[in-house]
Amino acid sequence: MGKITAAISAVGGYVPEFVLSNKILETMVDTNDEWIYTRTGIKERRLLKEEGKGTSYLAIKAAQDLIEKGNIDPKEIDLVLVATATPDMPVASTAVYTATEIGATNAFAYDLQAACSSFLYGMSTASSFIESGRYKKILLIGADKMSSIIDYTDRTTCIIFGDGAGAVLFEPNEEGYGYQDEFLRSDGVGRDSLKIDAGGSLLPPSIDTVTNKQHYVYQDGRTVFKFAVSNMADVSEKIMKRNNLTNDDVSWLLPHQANNRIIDATANRMNLDESKVLKNIQRYGNTTSATLPLLLYDFESKLKKGDKLVFAAFGGGFTWGASYLTWAYNS
Ligand code: UT7
Repeated sequence: MGKITAAISAVGGYVPEFVLSNKILETMVDTNDEWIYTRTGIKERRLLKEEGKGTSYLAIKAAQDLIEKGNIDPKEIDLVLVATATPDMPVASTAVYTATEIGATNAFAYDLQAACSSFLYGMSTASSFIESGRYKKILLIGADKMSSIIDYTDRTTCIIFGDGAGAVLFEPNEEGYGYQDEFLRSDGVGRDSLKIDAGGSLLPPSIDTVTNKQHYVYQDGRTVFKFAVSNMADVSEKIMKRNNLTNDDVSWLLPHQANNRIIDATANRMNLDESKVLKNIQRYGNTTSATLPLLLYDFESKLKKGDKLVFAAFGGGFTWGASYLTWAYNS
């Protein structure tokens, strides 16, 4: 028997209805549409505004979309992974609640956290479980309610992030399609450049941490930008070389949607025509763990069986990497 490959067999997604446009942001902080668009490529982002709804709400919606469109029986799902930096709560996994709510009653579930690389790393985990033969159906969801950790008086972060979720199902593939290779990295040097200071074991919540706004995302944008530009391009080039892929061979680049300039730098290094670079940053901003699956959700109809996809991401930690996957179906 040949090697089992792990292919994506279904896709789902969800973004909340409320649109936070650059125009609205102009009324909230000292910024303007032109600055935001030229520096980031973002025009608007979606926010989950309803009280009492956390990341699980987004994850469940995306999973239900996948289940409905893919005609999947949730009872057949073996494992539910939720990649997220904004779990509903620190203890009691968001994935467990999500699995139960969608009727995946025969699955086990857990969360995976690696900031903006969570979904990329999650693809590695999901595909390994399939390749090993241990499980047959793995639901991987990337979901983040970034608005729950953003300070909407801080113009350096509130213009960037949005809420959303995307989901994929990994299954064994008999034709060799699916996950082919990965090049994943991390470096703790980045811990101080993109973080939430308080609320963890290092600095538990207190009145002071709330007063000092230490439960919000802090980002040293310039430093993160420098690392992201070079590292995302490096790994994308490496994954091409290692798999003997020319720019003609690559059908699509699916880059983390953090900044248009980082995306373009990666595409340039790969010598890729811009028509092959999938983007929705303009409409959603940076949805952290949801950027990659939301690209699949938005552009699924363009993807054809046999297409060669390169995924690339960079995030806090630092965490980053690229993976290479062949598409398994025509939708
Ligand atoms: O997904 C996780 C990984 N994250 C990333 O990949 C994000 C990486 N970083 C970035 O995308 C960019 O660094 C930002 C979009 C966050 C910022 O863009 P930048 O070109 O690096 O701007 P900057 O931080 O160097 O700031 C340039 C100027 C500053 O003013 P001075 O010091 O030159 O007078 C800022 O104070 O722009 C100012 N500025 C703003 N102006 C208008 C900062 N934020 C804003 C704003 N509106 N929202």
